[in-house]
Amino acid sequence: MNHIIQFFGISLLATALTACGGGGSGKHKSSSSASSRAPSSSALSSIAPSSTAASSTPTSSSVAASLSVALKTLTTIPIGVAVSATTESYNIFDSTAQQRVVTHHFNQLTAGNIMKMSYLHPLENSFTYTNADALIDFASDNGMSVHGHALIWHSDYQVPSWMKNYVGDKTVWLAMLENHVKTITAYYSGKVVSWDVVNEAINDDGSYRNSIFFQKTDDDYIEQAFINAHEGDPIADLYYNDYSIEVDPEKMATLKTMLDDFIARDVPIDGVGFQMHIYMDYPSIATIKAAFQEIVVRDLKVKITELDIPINNPYSSGYPGNVKTTLTTELALAQKKRYCEVVAAYLETVPTNLRGGVTIWGVNDPSSWLISFLFDDEHDDWPLLFNANYNEKPALQGVADALSNQPCN
Ligand code: XIL
Repeated sequence: MNHIIQFFGISLLATALTACGGGGSGKHKSSSSASSRAPSSSALSSIAPSSTAASSTPTSSSVAASLSVALKTLTTIPIGVAVSATTESYNIFDSTAQQRVVTHHFNQLTAGNIMKMSYLHPLENSFTYTNADALIDFASDNGMSVHGHALIWHSDYQVPSWMKNYVGDKTVWLAMLENHVKTITAYYSGKVVSWDVVNEAINDDGSYRNSIFFQKTDDDYIEQAFINAHEGDPIADLYYNDYSIEVDPEKMATLKTMLDDFIARDVPIDGVGFQMHIYMDYPSIATIKAAFQEIVVRDLKVKITELDIPINNPYSSGYPGNVKTTLTTELALAQKKRYCEVVAAYLETVPTNLRGGVTIWGVNDPSSWLISFLFDDEHDDWPLLFNANYNEKPALQGVADALSNQPCN
């Protein structure tokens, strides 16, 4: 698991938690903690106010629960969600129940995977847009915009093999990446409103990640990617996207240096994407606000790009002995409050003109990437806004409360 955590770049969350007293001895697992991945039948579906309530009992997916007021109608900012497509499990095109809640509540889509590098650019001289086009058409047909994710990301599974084996010096590599970034952004010009141009280029200790891109070009690929994305699509908003920026001071320091340098030299960047794969009790709202503020003072946009809030925290001191295997009413309500406080923190800190929006990383709980990534499929969790049957959870009401300027409770 450790190498997988390292691979996706969340390893130092454990360090950060320990450093602030929230963590224990890291992730420990025992087979006794394992349980089925299937969502617990006792997971709450909704305890929204009765006027807008969905069923409080999970129903068969063929029975559609009523939906509360659409999140997207409560605000002017983009309200997004990441979805799966093509052959992925939880493919949105396979589920009318999923389509129903997605089109009701959200006005922006991010592809959870299918717009990553290897999917759009599988061979050096071949770009394959068909699957992404279908998703973009779906978004457009339903009045939703699309946030592109991600033009350059180190993660091994999505860097195409031909690119990993690409031979050439720095100039040759920069030319190859220029073609990658420019071709895709030009193709999607007018169809993708914003891009994660570079994803996760900075380590938690503030050094630049030793990705294949860094090995070949130093950190030059980062600014060049922004320049090329702007050339390909001069209209789209261009984001640098990363996790734990809000909790790791060294990471934030390097990011600020990079942003100030870009601003001083007119490298086209519009904002910073905060992934926000956070926990119920970590980081604090004050910490989150302070991080947003660092971007706001630079007159750059802030976008929450990948929000999810699991109930369990594998870095907590009692884990896995204290693992929660059922989403009780109490836990669901605590999660509602946490979602509300995070979105309220965003609205309180980021002025209207700098709000890139809020995107939730996944639709229903069992589809969350965290169940395998963070918990090794050893037990359930419920990090998202909908339960297994696509019924609204209290967490959704928490987001609605924040967007409606209601108190978080
Ligand atoms: C995750 C997807 O959700 C998973 O399906 C996939 O197996 C791995 O990638 N940060 C990112 C996202 O920027 O692209 C990652 O998405 C989650 C972490």
